Amino acid sequence: MSATGESGAPGAGGEDRAVSPAEITAQVIARFDSCADPRLREIMQALVAHLHGFVTEVGLTEAEWAAAIGELTATGHITDDKRQEFILWSDSLGVSMLVDALAHPAPDGATESTVLGPFYVAGSPLRPYGADIAEQEAGVPAWVHGRVLDTGGEPIAGAELDVWQNGDNRLYAVQDEEAPDDHLRGRFETDAEGRFAFRAVRPVPYPIPDDGPVGRMLAATGRHPWRPAHVHIVVRAPGHRSVTTHIFDAESEYLGDDAVFAVKPSLMRTFEERAADDPERPEGVEEPWVSLELDLVLAPGEDEAAVKDLGRTH
Ligand code: BEZ
Ligand code: FE
Repeated sequence: MSATGESGAPGAGGEDRAVSPAEITAQVIARFDSCADPRLREIMQALVAHLHGFVTEVGLTEAEWAAAIGELTATGHITDDKRQEFILWSDSLGVSMLVDALAHPAPDGATESTVLGPFYVAGSPLRPYGADIAEQEAGVPAWVHGRVLDTGGEPIAGAELDVWQNGDNRLYAVQDEEAPDDHLRGRFETDAEGRFAFRAVRPVPYPIPDDGPVGRMLAATGRHPWRPAHVHIVVRAPGHRSVTTHIFDAESEYLGDDAVFAVKPSLMRTFEERAADDPERPEGVEEPWVSLELDLVLAPGEDEAAVKDLGRTH
């Protein structure tokens, strides 16, 4: 099979002829035949087959290959405990949504999942019913309330909502050096009737971080970095499958061309506009505000993977 022999050394049993691209691919795939872990073997052999197929199909040049290595190197250099450029590649190439779709086929009546994104920070403060997640001025007040239910419509008491969002400066607290660490994030527990409520702000569209390798890819390919306005929620409850999801503002820009392909129609909601003097206004609100009623539905089962804190150390 090999022109140069298994060792690769010239003359080590090979004939004196060039090795074809197909032979290189076959040789590399065969090198994993002895991998003891069958799943790892399957993944590595398929990875090599598809990677070599891609290189061959596009006829990748040496200059293009060197540029790709340069961008991968830059991806490593820009990634730290606050910036996760690898997740951004996965998100912007649709891989995160593909993995999510394979892991969570449309659940029967349960709230659909979508990407976690790079701005999740574990350990948000547990806040009481109705509390404000904004620790400083952050935009139009939003009253978000509803129930957590099972797929039979029964309320789930003691479910946990883990919520995070950006403010009207477009930033998440983890990106904003001026903001307190717990700004615009919090955890809430449902009461005996499965009810929850919290004060948030109306989310605004924002660009994914585009000052690094992913941003260069977007610019070079004529893609924009914008995401439609959304609030992130993870819902967890014993005996049920957790869901990592967003609630999208149905009136937002970019719903049709989200930079990370994360919009699902079932996750769009209308934020109802309310007047400053509306008698239902939350305590302390003196300006126009919005409200959002939201039921979240969990499928029965166990969680094989609660939120994975991918690459984060804080
Ligand atoms: C986010 O929604 O926070 C997000 C998701 C993917 C990439 C960048 C940001
Ligand atoms: Fe987000």
